[in-house]
Parts: sequence; structure tokens; C-alpha cells
Amino acid sequence: MAQKTFNFAILGSGNVAKFHAEAINSLEEAKLIGVADSDFSRAQTFAEKYGIKPYASYDEMLSDPQVDAVCICTPSGYHAEQAIKALQGGKHTVLEKPMALNTEDADKIVEAAEKSDALITVISQNRFLPDVQKAKEIVESGKLGKLVFCDLFMKYWRDPEYYSASDWRGTFKHDGGGALINQGIHGVDMMLYIVGDAKPSFAKIKTSYHNIEAEDTALAILDFENGASGVIEASTCAYPGFNRRIEIVGTEGCMIISEGHIEKLVIGNETVIEGAVEKRGSSADHTVMDTSNHARQIQNLINAINGKEPIFIDAKEARRPLKLIEEIYSYRNK
Ligand SMILES: NC(=O)c1ccc[n+]([C@@H]2O[C@H](COP(=O)([O-])OP(=O)(O)OC[C@H]3O[C@@H](n4cnc5c(N)ncnc54)[C@H](O)[C@@H]3O)[C@@H](O)[C@H]2O)c1
Repeated sequence: MAQKTFNFAILGSGNVAKFHAEAINSLEEAKLIGVADSDFSRAQTFAEKYGIKPYASYDEMLSDPQVDAVCICTPSGYHAEQAIKALQGGKHTVLEKPMALNTEDADKIVEAAEKSDALITVISQNRFLPDVQKAKEIVESGKLGKLVFCDLFMKYWRDPEYYSASDWRGTFKHDGGGALINQGIHGVDMMLYIVGDAKPSFAKIKTSYHNIEAEDTALAILDFENGASGVIEASTCAYPGFNRRIEIVGTEGCMIISEGHIEKLVIGNETVIEGAVEKRGSSADHTVMDTSNHARQIQNLINAINGKEPIFIDAKEARRPLKLIEEIYSYRNK
């Protein structure tokens, strides 16, 4: 039987949209056919660049029977409403992170997904890195012994211009917070995926440097279900920006994951991996990203539509880091 090509359209044609466009264009079974943006002139420029159709509105995009799937690349505050609309319209959905600004809205997406024949995947592209898979296997094999500490350090740098040039970044209404929910969610998701869920026992949410409404620095002390303790330090004020680190330390070994790559792995008396991971651009520049992990995630959606494998990060999975972040944010005014 001939292989079906799935037609994708992108909503929101800003920074992250080009990674979706390139990811889609790199896949044999996917084709990018259209784009919509609340600013039509932006949609037109993007459409010209990729040789696709600019839709006048999201409704027009959703009512096009040619469109099989949509990628939602708009400011985070619109995600829940737009994803629910796509699912209700029967369109497969690739939703950028965070899936919503709170778990109440996340639950509405979960419910809409359950009622729809269409599938949804929420972007958390780092989970597709081979070393992240390997790290999870190592933890689950018990080779590190009883886990004592699971820590996330995200000492990133974002120039003041990153916030001042945007009408939504760092706002409660459309970003839902700052450094933790926007940048930090990647590391939180990876950490919970590798070691399991956690709850905060204390947190401090601060705006240290940037002229924004929400936090640019977050600290939390965590209790993991696996019995380990841990901390999160997440900031966009740490010049010149450092690789994000996840440190997992047990009674029989330890592992350090730097920007999704294992930098150090010690099991018993053996140092299995030891070698610095080069500095990755995203620690200091939001426009730098590796498209291949978005491509892997979109391929997973296509495989799931074709019944070949389950969706790897569905709405319920994507709710896990959001729940922890929401619980950390509950310390905001304490
Ligand atoms: N997965 C990742 O690593 C990653 C990286 C960057 C951004 N993101 C996420 O992608 C989303 C977009 O971020 P960005 O950096 O591309 O933002 P951006 O500001 O560069 O682009 C947003 C685009 O959406 C358009 N837009 C705004 N409101 C809209 C609406 N209601 N309907 C349609 N279009 C609308 C804007 O005109 C703009 O073109 C955010 O949720 C962000 O968290 C994810």
C-alpha cells in the first residue's frame, strides 16, 4: 500500500515555528502546506519562505480538509484553547510546551484528547535524545543503587532584549511565569521522566534581574517518590549561560547529564563515561536548537496515527512537569 503523506499546518510563525517547518520538511511522510498567525503579514512572510499557503485565520486553517495535523507554536497562554479547538476539529495536534499555564487547563486538553479521534503530542524534544533514554534505563536498572539526590541546575542567560522585544515572555497571562515554566520545563520534564515524580517541600520564586512581571530565578527543594531528595535551581540571569545539568547520585554510582548528554557515569568502581559536553547554544540563545528532536517527535505522532507505536508524550505525560512547576509556583508569595 502506498505510504500516506500527512499534511501539516503551523499556527504562530515566530521563533519556534521554523524548527517545526524544518522538522516537517525533513520527514518523508510529512508535508508542510500552510501557516496562520494572528498577524497575517507574519504568516505571509513565513508562507513565502516555505512555499506554503497563508491562512487568514486559525478557523480557516482548521476548516481546510487538506490539513491533517496542526503544530501550535503560539505564545503559551493560547495553547490550551487552541489545542482543544484542533482536537475538536479532528486535527492531529503537535502542541508546543508548556501544554497550558496550569493543570486545570491541562486537564481540559486531556479530556478533549480522550473525546477526539485525533491524537496529540506535546513537545518535549529532549526526551528523544538517545542519552536521555539511556539515562532512564540506567536508573531503572538499579545500577546507581538507592538514589540519594536528583538535582536540576539550569543556569541560563537571556539578554534583557529577549524579554523587552516580546509582548508575552515573562508575563503571567501568556508565559504563565518565567524561567521555570518557559525554559525550566525542559529540564523538569527530563528529570521526572528519568527518575520519577517529585513534590516540592520548599521553594523561592524571585525576579532577580530582568524587568519582567514573573520570575527569572526559581529555587526548590524536592522530595521524590523514589525516596531521593533534590533541588532545582533555574534562572535566566546566569551570565554567560551554562549547560543545564541533571545530577543523579545513588549509593552505588552517579550520573551527570549535561544538556541531555551523559557527561559522567560512575557505576561502582568503574568510571563508564567521563568527558565534558561542549557548551550548547540554548543556554544563552533561544534561537539555537537542534531540529532533529522535533522531527523525531513528529515522526512518533505519524507512527502513532499509523498504529505502529504509542504516542510517546501525550497530554497526560506532558501534565507531569506542569504539575510540579505549579506546585513550586504555589510558594510564589510566601
Ligand atoms: N520546544 C522548545 O524548545 C521551544 C523553544 C522556543 C519556544 N517554544 C515555545 O513555543 C511557543 C512560541 O514561542 P516563540 O519563541 O516562537 O514565540 P514568538 O513570539 O517568536 O512567536 C509567536 C508567534 O505567534 C503569533 N501569535 C501570537 N498570538 C497568536 C494567536 N492568538 N494566534 C495565532 N498566532 C499568534 C505571533 O504573531 C508570533 O508570530 C511558546 O509557547 C514557547 O514556550 C518552545
